[in-house]
Amino acid sequence: MSARFPLFVPAPAKINLTLEVLGKRDDGYHELASVMQTVALHDTLCLHSAPPGECACVCDVPQLNGEDNLALRAARLLSVVDGGRHGVTIELCKAIPVQAGLGGGSSDAAAVLTGLNRLWEMRLTAGRLTELAAMLGSDVPFFVRGGTALIGGRGEVVTPLPDAEPLWLVLAQPGRGVSTQAVFGRVTGADYTDGMATRAVAEAVRRGDDLPLGRLVNGLEPAATGACGEIGEVREAVMRAGAPAVRMSGSGTAVFAPFRRLSQAVDVHSRLAAAGVRAWLTRTSEASAGSGVGVDV
Ligand code: C5P
Repeated sequence: MSARFPLFVPAPAKINLTLEVLGKRDDGYHELASVMQTVALHDTLCLHSAPPGECACVCDVPQLNGEDNLALRAARLLSVVDGGRHGVTIELCKAIPVQAGLGGGSSDAAAVLTGLNRLWEMRLTAGRLTELAAMLGSDVPFFVRGGTALIGGRGEVVTPLPDAEPLWLVLAQPGRGVSTQAVFGRVTGADYTDGMATRAVAEAVRRGDDLPLGRLVNGLEPAATGACGEIGEVREAVMRAGAPAVRMSGSGTAVFAPFRRLSQAVDVHSRLAAAGVRAWLTRTSEASAGSGVGVDV
């Protein structure tokens, strides 16, 4: 039986409130400590039932229409688990900039897993979906639940946290992105830290305290800025526009500035827009509203 109506699923972006590189592992990946947070900015997917075993993806950004699209790979993976009994045509409308460290591709993949679990009535648990997500990429498991989480391992070890203090956000990005692999390739021992900053932020979240906005860290900033000098320029532009704190998200190239007052975020966003910088005004989002699991859309 196939569902009669298609299913809309939102796929939220994320920021890394902290991101620390603890060291390099024998498998070539880097061991990470991070507090990740979903945001309201989101891609939108529409899942249409298709004949058994057929999976396709149509994206409004033509460059993302290839076979390596992570959303399509997620559908193919779930189709194997499902025994090829169903099919899907995915429509993907992008709003999250690509290669920005905002997790867009990973979130699309998680949205396909959680959405097809419903469309195909597979009844896979969140734990099983998280296992499958880890096969698609290090950041994908986080998006199965979203919200605020402590991240370990290569990114796939997700410990849910209570929702962190809600914040307005201004995101800004240079005109180009950079691949995660290229950034990790430039990381050196000098970028390693001990995870203390991440533990401190996770503890603040657990206690329900305000976030230490001036003490957020990202150990990938030197490597990413080496690969793409414009990140430093955008960071400067956001500070010049009046943001008290600015951090890069993930492996870049986007940066974010957190605010407690909308009026301040609006001022910074308009100054950036006037200066011709690509910028978004958004906010942090909660686990249940942003994850695509159990959400009525
Ligand atoms: O897991 P994912 O496919 O997103 O990772 C892309 C690339 O980023 C990996 O091939 C690896 O080179 C690098 N990476 C890393 N350490 C991590 C995550 C990613 O070195 N924790």
